[in-house]
Amino acid sequence: MAEPRPRVWLARPLFEDITMRLDEHFEVVRTSVEDRYRPADIAAHLRDVDGALVTLSEKVGAEEIAGAARLRAVANVAVGYDNLDLPALTAAGVLVTNTPDVLTETTADFGFALLMSTARRITESERWLREGRWDRWSFDRMLGADLHGSTLGILGMGRIGQGIARRAAGFDMRVLYHNRRPLPAETEGACRARYVGFDELLAQADHLVLVLPYTPQTHHVVDAAALAKMKPTATLVNVARGGIVDEPALADALAHGRLAAAGLDVYEGEPAVRPELLALRNVVLTPHIASASPATRRAMVALAVDNLVAALGCGPDAGRPPAPVNAGKMKR
Ligand code: GLV
Repeated sequence: MAEPRPRVWLARPLFEDITMRLDEHFEVVRTSVEDRYRPADIAAHLRDVDGALVTLSEKVGAEEIAGAARLRAVANVAVGYDNLDLPALTAAGVLVTNTPDVLTETTADFGFALLMSTARRITESERWLREGRWDRWSFDRMLGADLHGSTLGILGMGRIGQGIARRAAGFDMRVLYHNRRPLPAETEGACRARYVGFDELLAQADHLVLVLPYTPQTHHVVDAAALAKMKPTATLVNVARGGIVDEPALADALAHGRLAAAGLDVYEGEPAVRPELLALRNVVLTPHIASASPATRRAMVALAVDNLVAALGCGPDAGRPPAPVNAGKMKR
């Protein structure tokens, strides 16, 4: 008798023409919801499957996998995987994969767009114009910060940070960065970027872009004390994760002129956005869309499918998923 096919849970309806490749290897449990799952819903979906393909909205940790004895792989459709409790999944022998590389350039484009929009007050101007308040041209209306000739600080100099640095060269910006460790000289040269300490980055940046992973160590790393070290004329842009920034401290700095402006694509409690941020005119708010181009979102789903197929021992790369996160760290 033929072996039963592995079962996988597809947590969201994602590009059917791509995810149908899962059906070649697995019995696929599809869900049509676009709502948020409660932990108990996720636990129920994981109970009888060998693998799952999830997005960053699905949190999977010890509670969700407690009854998931068959679970062997979770493929995240995102480069960041802070929605997954890596130690818990690793201890349970669950292979985790993510989607790096395919979203680097689209996300770097967006980081730069958000920086420009924030520094040059594009959305604030547009709101003001649509409100019918433009009665005459004025020499000193909506003055914003220059990008050209300014100093760009990048916190977290992985692939996306490097992509933003390469774009900054076209704007004649001086690029400083801080990272867990300095990049090799060759990579620094290609990005025309110089490594500095965290405090120096804060003090020197005219514009600071956050592109670092969210971990317990980076939780609220941009807090009131860090913000106080920045120039009051500076712009802060976050395309990483909301929890990196102490949002009440940021809102307070923006409201009281201790920071000029902020561009945020991510929020600590997203999709909820704090009322004190919504109330500010000098903050550009977007709904976590940095990687949202059709080609990139398709490439992310395709990579997640490849990851899941290989992680569950199927397809040409059986056992060798293209983007493993915790391979080699398994305890079981
Ligand atoms: C998006 O935020 C991602 O991590 O891919």
